[in-house]
Amino acid sequence: MNILIIGGHRGIGSAIANKLHNDQHQIIKTSRSYGDLELTEHGFWQIHCDITNEDSTHTLSQQLQGQFNHIDWLINCVGILHSDEFMPEKSLNQLNLNQLNQNYMTNAVSHLLLIKTLKKLIIHAERPLVTSVSARIGSIEDNHLGGWYAYRMSKAALNMGLKTLAIEWHRKHPKVKFLLLHPGTTDTDLSAPFQRNLPKGQLQTVELTAELLVEQMIKNQDHSSKYPLFIDHKGQSIPW
Ligand SMILES: NC(=O)c1ccc[n+]([C@@H]2O[C@H](COP(=O)([O-])OP(=O)(O)OC[C@H]3O[C@@H](n4cnc5c(N)ncnc54)[C@H](OP(=O)(O)O)[C@@H]3O)[C@@H](O)[C@H]2O)c1
Repeated sequence: MNILIIGGHRGIGSAIANKLHNDQHQIIKTSRSYGDLELTEHGFWQIHCDITNEDSTHTLSQQLQGQFNHIDWLINCVGILHSDEFMPEKSLNQLNLNQLNQNYMTNAVSHLLLIKTLKKLIIHAERPLVTSVSARIGSIEDNHLGGWYAYRMSKAALNMGLKTLAIEWHRKHPKVKFLLLHPGTTDTDLSAPFQRNLPKGQLQTVELTAELLVEQMIKNQDHSSKYPLFIDHKGQSIPW
């Protein structure tokens, strides 16, 4: 299979790339730190992608089309929660437009625009699977704690966007299946500032998370729902 992992250089995406890396698969990883498409000495393809920049995603698409005639699995692991400029908001008073915009652009809008850009490559695959790493915190029904406005809202928007696309493509490109996966709390840069108060044993290694998520992708590759499956790393459904 040709497997494209957006955000495959760090965190969960990198662990998924390592897990899937074997002779039968061509693994293409993206990062904002990479350059033009190249095959590394370790057997990974790597290519630059800033998902929030349309020139970058257009170039990504052009270069991939020059090398591959389809993408079997698109796995989108991109996400932000905090940055040098902001931390998740605890109250309405902390809301600001920059943080809301950055979360919305990176975690939601860009995922849909990227699929639009890569559409030809996706629909030419035999059994295409589009997976976005979402988060349980994006569930409206499951929101009992509040807080983290921008991140929560962006993940809910991602879920809505992918569900809307799944309905459209169920008519036009029914071969394409969609998954929205909650990875479980995982030891990465994204979760690092919030790990201190976690109950013992709750923090997963990236390797374990990758193993569990890949298991769900294999198991649910041919699911029959016209909607994306919104499930966690153990395969449990999450309410929208
Ligand atoms: N860790 C957790 O506990 C947890 C829990 C629930 C959900 N998640 C979700 O899991 C996914 C992966 O997160 P992680 O924990 O692995 O975080 P991470 O280690 O901080 O990695 C974030 C990834 O996002 C990429 N990225 C950020 N902004 C980008 C942009 N503008 N364009 C392209 N790539 C961009 C980074 O790529 P570069 O190489 O370009 O920096 C990096 O690969 C996210 O969607 C996150 O919301 C994580």
